[in-house]
Amino acid sequence: MSLEPDAYPSPPLPPSGHDPVLLREVLSLLAPAPGKIIVDCTTGRGGHAQAIAEKLGSTGQLICLDADPRNLEFARQRLADVPCPVRFFHANFAELDEVLQAAGIPKIDGLLADLGISTNQLFEPQYGMSFSNDMPLDMRVDPRVEKTAADLVNHLREEDLANVLYELAQERCSRRIARKIGDARRLSPIITTGRLADLVRSAIPRRGGAPEKIDPATRTFLALRMAVNREMENLAALLKTAPKFFQPNGRFLVISFQSMEDRLVKQAFRTLEATGDCEILTPRPVSPLPDELAVNPRSRSSKLRAVLKK
Ligand SMILES: C[S@@+](CC[C@H](N)C(=O)[O-])C[C@H]1O[C@@H](n2cnc3c(N)ncnc32)[C@H](O)[C@@H]1O
Repeated sequence: MSLEPDAYPSPPLPPSGHDPVLLREVLSLLAPAPGKIIVDCTTGRGGHAQAIAEKLGSTGQLICLDADPRNLEFARQRLADVPCPVRFFHANFAELDEVLQAAGIPKIDGLLADLGISTNQLFEPQYGMSFSNDMPLDMRVDPRVEKTAADLVNHLREEDLANVLYELAQERCSRRIARKIGDARRLSPIITTGRLADLVRSAIPRRGGAPEKIDPATRTFLALRMAVNREMENLAALLKTAPKFFQPNGRFLVISFQSMEDRLVKQAFRTLEATGDCEILTPRPVSPLPDELAVNPRSRSSKLRAVLKK
């Protein structure tokens, strides 16, 4: 998903709920082939997984994880007729160790992490993430997570809330927004995306000149989603755990949608290369070509990096 979740105007929701980004590039760098074992640790709506499974033939194996059991179920149905065996795990990719142990798989040939959220998660009211429509404020992709965005917004100290907005989305008006939220929640709890978005917008001074390209509430919503789902912590855990599972010639691919994530991936891959065990396959991150951008403008901020185990 794009960094600008509610950049407007929004293109319509695709029929599958999500268009896989950089699909050609993923297939080329991941090199799925008969007999290989591949992990898609952000299966989502199964777009990448389906294309990968077709390449694995009947002798390969695909392991599908997602923190969201609703997306995982959709993918399970979508992949019902692919040629290779597929196993599905409702799990966080930070739990990769446990999943591979449960699956009895000591080594893998490739792993894809397509970070963030799928388009349907942004728009479906049950996820409570969007300010395009008013909905209960939630933002959890995994129902096992205890605290919702409403919990954070209503219970974090103002100073901590401001830090979340600044650190995770570089929101320059973080303190004003936190103060506005603090004042409002003393009157009544903030429990809808619409009320939160209005509060944020009212806290950000309007600039003269051309209208902003993105809604002023975008950064706050992004930061809260990242905090609720512990996105940076989970990515750091995956980058630390995954490398030990690769066979020689194993490929580790990560698609990120914002600079903080991409920086973390870049640093982790450089460290892997420095050990002499791995080779970076993408000296520069791979971005969508104009033909993809034309049909899927939501792919615009995606960046793909890949590393090869020697
Ligand atoms: C961008 S979508 C993936 C789309 C997918 N590649 C496709 O083609 O449909 C990201 C998915 O990762 C899941 N996700 C996010 N964080 C996760 C985590 N830490 N562990 C497992 N799944 C996660 C989300 O629930 C979402 O389904």
